[in-house]
Amino acid sequence: MSFAVAIDGPSGAGKSSLAKKLALHYGLLYIDTGAMYRAIALYAMRRGVDPHDHARVIPLLEEVHLELRHAHAEQRIEMNGEDVTKEVRREEVGMGAAAVSSCPQVRTFLVEWQRSLAKQENIIMDGRDIGTVVLPDAQVKIFLTASAAVRAQRRYLELCEKGVDTTYEKVLALVEKRDYEDTHREQSPLCQAQDAVLVDTSDCDFDEAFRRLCSVIDRKRKDG
Ligand code: DC
Repeated sequence: MSFAVAIDGPSGAGKSSLAKKLALHYGLLYIDTGAMYRAIALYAMRRGVDPHDHARVIPLLEEVHLELRHAHAEQRIEMNGEDVTKEVRREEVGMGAAAVSSCPQVRTFLVEWQRSLAKQENIIMDGRDIGTVVLPDAQVKIFLTASAAVRAQRRYLELCEKGVDTTYEKVLALVEKRDYEDTHREQSPLCQAQDAVLVDTSDCDFDEAFRRLCSVIDRKRKDG
């Protein structure tokens, strides 16, 4: 197996920005699996299918062709030839992704793809079930978290910077709803793998979180 770093954790813990920086630092390919679930949700929504309606989502898996492209640790995702990297980040697509991600057929479809990517390259992959289900043999497993209040505050500031009209309370309610859905679904719920290292970034900034993750990876690499 090639070298793999698995990063799991709740939404808004900083997984993707930290994983991108780690990818550049260690020369790994960054794979954001959330974008895959988001793309399936977007496809369903565009076809007028409710992402909760799994019986209607499943046949769509035969029509949707997803591809990843990578440049400078940035991942772009294409859906039937169209670059949807930006569109899948929309809040309602994220809610749709949470809905399709509880469908076992969707998970099997994406997990197979994720495993085949990890076989080809040295990767850093982030998601909810990477250390537990997708890559149980990953050399490094990290469970990255922060309190819901801190994650909501970070997300609220990001949205304010983008000029989105919202309140901290609304953002916190969405963060808590997403956490509930991710941890309570029957299929591969979000949980820390037994052998994952817990990194809580509630009390630290980005640079400190990056240093903590580097020290976990360096230690694991040294120990072999
Ligand atoms: O990380 P994200 O916000 O882009 O993920 C979107 C949704 O997809 C989230 O609600 C959980 C789900 N997801 C999942 O179930 N398993 C993964 N490996 C990645 C994401």
